[in-house]
Amino acid sequence: MKIGFIGLGRMGVGMAANLVARGQEVTVYNRSPGKAQGLVEKGARAAAKIAEACRGEAVLSMLSDDAAVEAVVFGEGGVLASLREGAIHVSLSTISVALSQRLAAVHATAGQAYVAAPVFGRPEAAAAAKLFIVAAGPPHAVETCSPLFEAIGQRTFRFGAQAHVANLIKLSGNFLIGSAIEALAEAMALVAKAGVDRLRYLELLTSTLFKAPVYEIYGRLIAEQKFEPAGFAAPLGLKDIRLALEAAETLGIPMPLGSLLHDRLMALIAEGGETLDWSAIGRVTAGMGGRAKTSGE
Ligand SMILES: NC(=O)c1ccc[n+]([C@@H]2O[C@H](COP(=O)([O-])OP(=O)(O)OC[C@H]3O[C@@H](n4cnc5c(N)ncnc54)[C@H](OP(=O)(O)O)[C@@H]3O)[C@@H](O)[C@H]2O)c1
Repeated sequence: MKIGFIGLGRMGVGMAANLVARGQEVTVYNRSPGKAQGLVEKGARAAAKIAEACRGEAVLSMLSDDAAVEAVVFGEGGVLASLREGAIHVSLSTISVALSQRLAAVHATAGQAYVAAPVFGRPEAAAAAKLFIVAAGPPHAVETCSPLFEAIGQRTFRFGAQAHVANLIKLSGNFLIGSAIEALAEAMALVAKAGVDRLRYLELLTSTLFKAPVYEIYGRLIAEQKFEPAGFAAPLGLKDIRLALEAAETLGIPMPLGSLLHDRLMALIAEGGETLDWSAIGRVTAGMGGRAKTSGE
């Protein structure tokens, strides 16, 4: 397919590379120049303007947050104004349910299709085409995009015709990951303060009742206190928990754990942890209990 890809951040760069590697004809655009160079060497075409990335059958966007998506879609010469009738906008970003509903409406009015396809998996998974994709939107458009999803992920889960449902599911998933991080951090702070080696403790957990990628990946980061470079930066984590809480308020579902995570991430960022991985909320937890031993001490 002839497609565009907008947003070459930590996640987008690997996804765009996998689309190129699968033989798609990809035109890439990023707000800050320079990030397209590596992709051009692999066979992508670099666009100087958003509109140039919107000339094909579909344009995929992988941007930080609602404000970024709004700027790229609604701005002058943006996706909405540039995409031709019948073409598809696939939004891979983790954005609010409300913005996703708005995007579905405006694209439909413009005769374009809108598919929400947020992803699970960190930049390593994006680079290795191992993402899990949650897709929702008009069935024919989701079907058209299936080769694109196959190029960037290991499995696509379809959740019907209402695009915003995919965003709600993604936000609920990140709430669960955040909750697992907080629980792991509390448990590790507890045993480490008594002198238990964190990595050995993690080995016990992940070899028995907690055999899951979330515990394995984040447990190691917390055990080794390795929060830099950030795979998923704390401000993005705060954004997702805030969006989950907004959706919860709209639907009338209390989420007390969500409120706790919101405050943990706020505290981490207020303490100067803006560039750290969001799993560094474990540092806030450990810090509250006094100095905990690091593994191997
Ligand atoms: N990292 C993860 O582990 C992970 C996992 C799953 C989902 N996600 C979600 O995926 C999305 C991207 O995450 P990421 O980690 O790739 O973020 P990132 O590295 O911070 O990249 C963000 C991208 O958005 C662009 N951008 C930001 N504001 C913009 C604006 N106003 N106009 C145009 N472009 C703008 C940036 O362009 P510049 O280069 O010009 O700044 C960059 O290309 C987020 O919604 C995140 O929640 C991330």
